[in-house]
Amino acid sequence: MRKITVIGVGYVGLVTAACFSDLGNQVIALDVDENRVAGLKRGEMPIYEPGLEELVKRNVAAGRLSFTTSYKDALQDSEFVFICVGTPSGSDGEADLKYVAAAARSIAQNMTAPLVVINKSTVPVGTGDWVAEIVREAQPTPIEFWVVSCPEFLREGVAIADFMNPHRTVLGSTSREAADKVAQLHLTLRAPIVITDLRTAEMIKYASNAFLATKISFINEIADICERLGADVKEVAAGMGFDARIGKQFLEAGLGYGGSCFPKDVKALAFMGDEMGVDTRILNSVMEVNSARRNAIVQKLDEMLGGLQGKTIGLLGLAFKANTDDMRDAPSIDIAATLQAAGATVRGYDPVAMDVARGVMPGVQMAKDAYALAEGVDAVLVATEWNEFKNLDLARVRDSMKQPVLLDGRNIYQPDIMRNLGFSYYGVGRGNAEGAKTKIRAHVNGN
Ligand code: UDX
Ligand code: UDX
Repeated sequence: MRKITVIGVGYVGLVTAACFSDLGNQVIALDVDENRVAGLKRGEMPIYEPGLEELVKRNVAAGRLSFTTSYKDALQDSEFVFICVGTPSGSDGEADLKYVAAAARSIAQNMTAPLVVINKSTVPVGTGDWVAEIVREAQPTPIEFWVVSCPEFLREGVAIADFMNPHRTVLGSTSREAADKVAQLHLTLRAPIVITDLRTAEMIKYASNAFLATKISFINEIADICERLGADVKEVAAGMGFDARIGKQFLEAGLGYGGSCFPKDVKALAFMGDEMGVDTRILNSVMEVNSARRNAIVQKLDEMLGGLQGKTIGLLGLAFKANTDDMRDAPSIDIAATLQAAGATVRGYDPVAMDVARGVMPGVQMAKDAYALAEGVDAVLVATEWNEFKNLDLARVRDSMKQPVLLDGRNIYQPDIMRNLGFSYYGVGRGNAEGAKTKIRAHVNGN
């Protein structure tokens, strides 16, 4: 059993702390937010993540997991400290590392024995070297330490499963010995362990997220072409995915990506490239395609309703994706604001994220469930793919709406079933009826 300290108990840090304690390690997690720590001591979770509450409570009860706001207590007898604080985007896209710096300084000032300092937060290439300088300068007396990059690859909503069954563990360090020590912590996960240098490890994280975001913008552009040519992008994605070089995942067309990672990480990587004089044309296009989708959805609602002024639109789902309460850069926020600016009234329902949503969606009326949301609205937009929406009594939804207009922003329904139910149904890239009439120009057969 080893002693591990985790700094920052957000979506990444709390999952990391709980999982390492569940693997039998002694873990103490620190946060500067006293309310968050006090809540955790009372068994209250600061975030919604399926399975997390039970995991935390069981390991606290077993004495393997505890919480503190004191760096001195947090670092007592620890061999490893994971930095999991936020790395939000600055105004120009560069990652804001003030929290990482604060954590590194506090670690330096409170460590009493040799320590492996591990960056789990997503940090720009070169941050590992920078953290080492901060620790060296801030130490009252020199104590040996090593810096290791161990990027997180956790998807919200499935973060515990992703921690316990990683595709790979990536470790970067100037010290092979330090990397090996951190590798020992991960052996029980029985996944490939990539050991490389600091900058390469940091870049693996950014390149991975940017590639996943590229897949999403790619399939969204294919969806726009499918819509006009009468093809169904869901079938196209399925047909593509059988090719192992393409893969089945991350080919779901929709409202574009949101959340606290892809938007921030693609922007940060483009910023790094630009700083180095690289013309990041692909990364810039990925961002442009993504941000254009939100207005395109509003435009489609405008066309479907013949104008938005005075209309009421119900957003079915608000969180940036299903199985989370996270509203960071959720497409629903921009869509609601644009609809309101066009004179529409917006109503919202989300099984989990409504409390968080209230704080970031001024003027949106919250409904108690999907059926209440649909009452009297001119159109429903499916904005998050929650399972509970997939088997709604759609006839009941249809009958309670002012008119049965439904824009399926996450393609959770079947177009023919919806049309047979009498909905004026639009999906994303589902080859609407008009598109089917589009003729491919004669150039296809060479003349
Ligand atoms: C964030 C980023 O979203 C992710 O890309 C990165 O890989 C890790 O950091 P997340 O867990 O979502 O992940 O951040 P957040 O939910 O904002 O939690 C950060 C926590 O760190 C907060 O609880 C905050 O109070 C705490 N914190 C912040 C500290 O403990 N010390 C600080 O100095 C600053
Ligand atoms: C992502 C990465 O997957 C994870 O490896 C990294 O550590 C953190 O960032 P997360 O942002 O939690 O995880 O969720 P993810 O499931 O990747 O979805 C990201 C966004 O892309 C969401 O807005 C989601 O709706 C969207 N998405 C995802 C699509 O639009 N289509 C898809 O096929 C998949």
